[in-house]
Amino acid sequence: MSEAKIQIKNLYKIFGKNPRGAMEHVKNGVGKDELLEKHNHVLGLKDINLDIQAKSVQVVMGLSGSGKSTLIRHINRLIEPTDGSVTVDGDEVLKMNEEELRNFRRSKTAMVFQRFALLPHKTVLQNTIFGLHIQNISEEDANKSARRWIERVGLSGYENKYPQHLSGGMQQRVGLARALTNDGDILLMDEAFSALDPLIRKDMQDILLELQDELHKTVVFITHDLDEALKIGDRIAILKDGIMDQEGIPAEILLNPKTKYVKDFVEDVNRARVIKAKHIMSEINGQDLSGAMPIDQDDFIDRFIDKVISDKPDNLVIQDKDKKNVGFLSTKKLSEILKR
Ligand SMILES: Nc1ncnc2c1ncn2[C@@H]1O[C@H](COP(=O)(O)OP(=O)(O)O)[C@@H](O)[C@H]1O
Ligand SMILES: [Mg+2]
Repeated sequence: MSEAKIQIKNLYKIFGKNPRGAMEHVKNGVGKDELLEKHNHVLGLKDINLDIQAKSVQVVMGLSGSGKSTLIRHINRLIEPTDGSVTVDGDEVLKMNEEELRNFRRSKTAMVFQRFALLPHKTVLQNTIFGLHIQNISEEDANKSARRWIERVGLSGYENKYPQHLSGGMQQRVGLARALTNDGDILLMDEAFSALDPLIRKDMQDILLELQDELHKTVVFITHDLDEALKIGDRIAILKDGIMDQEGIPAEILLNPKTKYVKDFVEDVNRARVIKAKHIMSEINGQDLSGAMPIDQDDFIDRFIDKVISDKPDNLVIQDKDKKNVGFLSTKKLSEILKR
């Protein structure tokens, strides 16, 4: 596999007077609660290892206080780690000097926060380009680019309106338009949709997925909501008390939760809605495919389960988009997966 776009290695973050000293306790197995009670330090992150592939959406999920913001802020070095390394495109972020870091942040990353603080006396258009350092392009081009993204996030006609005229959801769209106008290939989203009402939130998720289909950014998306994680994420990392409990594709997390914490998270999920045929197929390996029902590898179980129930095939043959056979799934295994 090619080298990951973002590589996080053995990352530790401890808050307090003597983080290095406290790290020894952490390495010896002292957990978050004990570290605070006995040693008066806060465990932010312990030994985090995460490879984030280019053009993928990496979700980081966990309850409040689990270390999600601390982790994402290491990627553009808004936080200095106690120990460990963060590389982006092979460059060690921690070795950059001030100017390199400034350039890196401007040219490669854009951040969207939970609440995008719009400047009240600037219009939507002005807010979208405010503070963006758009290298080597004229103001006219910057405006043009901003207008394009404002349109793409569904705010056409609002370019010259002031924030007081916008709902929370619309303000968050401005935040997204701004991040896209910034044009970096890494999008860092820290609970960007968490404060929105459910319907508006769903709209924003759809907009993000639609844009991602076309833009193929490397997105790090933080949420405490499993449904959102499953919908948005190519992969999901689950944090608990500063420790990464599990990391994998959504189906893996659902089917093989490694800890009780993860199990509790995924317990009530409707598997058929989040598992695709390709996640559960096995190799064809000379299986008899006569009478097998063809299924698109990218279809969620939800999409084909009714047909399986009515036609009662013994086996399914999984196909890619060119109808080439790529995998095998017995109806028996399918029902076991749904029963679990
Ligand atoms: N500057 C800081 N000083 C001390 N503790 C902090 C600081 N920032 C975060 N923490 C602590 O680190 C832990 C992880 O916080 P955070 O990354 O904000 O969690 P999340 O984003 O998952 O809610 C929490 O226990 C929090 O209280
Ligand atoms: Mg947070």
